[in-house]
Amino acid sequence: MTKNLSELYNLPDSDPPPLFLAPMAGFTNGPTRRIARAYGADLTFTEMVSAMGIIHQDSATLGLLRRSDEDEPVVAHLYGSDPAILAEATRIVMKNGGFAGIDLNAGCPVRKVARTGAGAALIRDPGLIHRILSAMRRNTTLPLTMKTRLGAHPGHPAIFEILRAAEDAGADALIVHARYTSQGHGGETDLATLAQLKTVATIPVIGNGGIRSPFDAWRMLAETGVDALMVARAAIGDPWIFNDISYALSSAEPPQVYDPTRGRPRRDLAEIRAVLLRHLDEEAVFLRHNGIHSIERPLVATFRCHLFRYLSGLKGSSFLRSQLSDIHTVAAVIEGVDACLERELRFRAKIK
Ligand SMILES: Cc1cc2nc3c(=O)[nH]c(=O)nc-3n(C[C@H](O)[C@H](O)[C@H](O)COP(=O)(O)O)c2cc1C
Repeated sequence: MTKNLSELYNLPDSDPPPLFLAPMAGFTNGPTRRIARAYGADLTFTEMVSAMGIIHQDSATLGLLRRSDEDEPVVAHLYGSDPAILAEATRIVMKNGGFAGIDLNAGCPVRKVARTGAGAALIRDPGLIHRILSAMRRNTTLPLTMKTRLGAHPGHPAIFEILRAAEDAGADALIVHARYTSQGHGGETDLATLAQLKTVATIPVIGNGGIRSPFDAWRMLAETGVDALMVARAAIGDPWIFNDISYALSSAEPPQVYDPTRGRPRRDLAEIRAVLLRHLDEEAVFLRHNGIHSIERPLVATFRCHLFRYLSGLKGSSFLRSQLSDIHTVAAVIEGVDACLERELRFRAKIK
């Protein structure tokens, strides 16, 4: 019998529907997932993990699967194109325990992945999707999902055939990025096709794509009726978005229409500082757990992508970016952050 998402992942029964942090290669490691959970994400996903790498016990691959109790529940997000290899990787993940579910990547357009027949290449072959998911299904009792797109090109939605393949193979839910492969991560989402899909699906459908604000979340829900919402880019450096969305969806009134030219909401500067430093600390612990002991340089290098997302839109952030080649220590990062926040504080005081 089909289970709803709260039953599948043991989530508290929620109204509004659950909010998920999307898998993002290079971003959704343990620290990012923990912070998203702390600010209202109900479920998170690992970065994309190679099924072949799991089978060969490749240490970098196994590092991507590292998780802790504080970021639970986490779904292991796997990629590959060979049913036997994905089935074996599923068996290993299942045996090692700790994950709330297993997800197949069938939407990544990056050449390195699609060239091997994995990721978005699977969209062209629903028969292969069926064989892969059936093989994975035989090896796990965990919730099994697939994250995919509407099709290869606008006007040619393959998603209805993909849905059938997933349902027949015993998948528990389908995650749909409401764009086509040819769009990459840009362009309009096709909510009308997502809505149509939802009317015929017998398993839960999770909607993703273009949620940058509570208004976008409300709109996707209102126009498609999906069972859960998944946020990707808007959550990087802005984990508060999950609580904002929950709050807005619980209110009787629709949220204010989102104006993309205005950027992100203005966050409290002390709160930005606290979360940014917590994230930096957690990254340091994460690197040590991954066996890296001389951590300062790698820490500063890997944290840069988060740093500028947290400071996005603030007055001193472009100046800090221009100084980047001189920033190699944690002390320099903190000094740069404080200078940026100080400039923003002065600016805010002026416009009050
Ligand atoms: C840096 C980056 C890495 C991503 N990595 C993955 C991935 O590993 N697996 C996947 O299914 N999607 C990946 N995505 C796609 C996102 O999960 C999501 O589907 C897409 O960004 C649309 O959602 P958004 O409009 O909320 O950003 C990635 C996106 C970005 C920007």
